[in-house]
Amino acid sequence: MGESLTSIFSTYSNKLKFYVNTELKIINNVNPKTTLLEYLRDNGYYGTKLACGEGGCGACTIVIAEYDNKSKLINYRTANACIFPLCSTNNKQIITIEGIGNPEMPHPVQV
Ligand code: FES
Repeated sequence: MGESLTSIFSTYSNKLKFYVNTELKIINNVNPKTTLLEYLRDNGYYGTKLACGEGGCGACTIVIAEYDNKSKLINYRTANACIFPLCSTNNKQIITIEGIGNPEMPHPVQV
């Protein structure tokens, strides 16, 4: 083991970078206990609801988009934001209900 701990940790960053819909977010020193839902609601994304708070009802469902280097495709999956750690959003796009339609052309789930 020729690498010192200092050089190993110098490759890590305390910055979290992700998108919410089309907005780039960069956050320093995220509390590892913060959920994605807490972050969203604290930052004005009220379309993502808090109901059970334990992953059982789906009121907080969001979409996570992530680029897959192997397939060169973007993978989309859903998650319950109330139990999804904010720390796990690095290099991902979070799509909330605010990001899927607009007043002129609402998405069917917004009608
Ligand atoms: Fe019920 Fe998240 S609030 S699953």
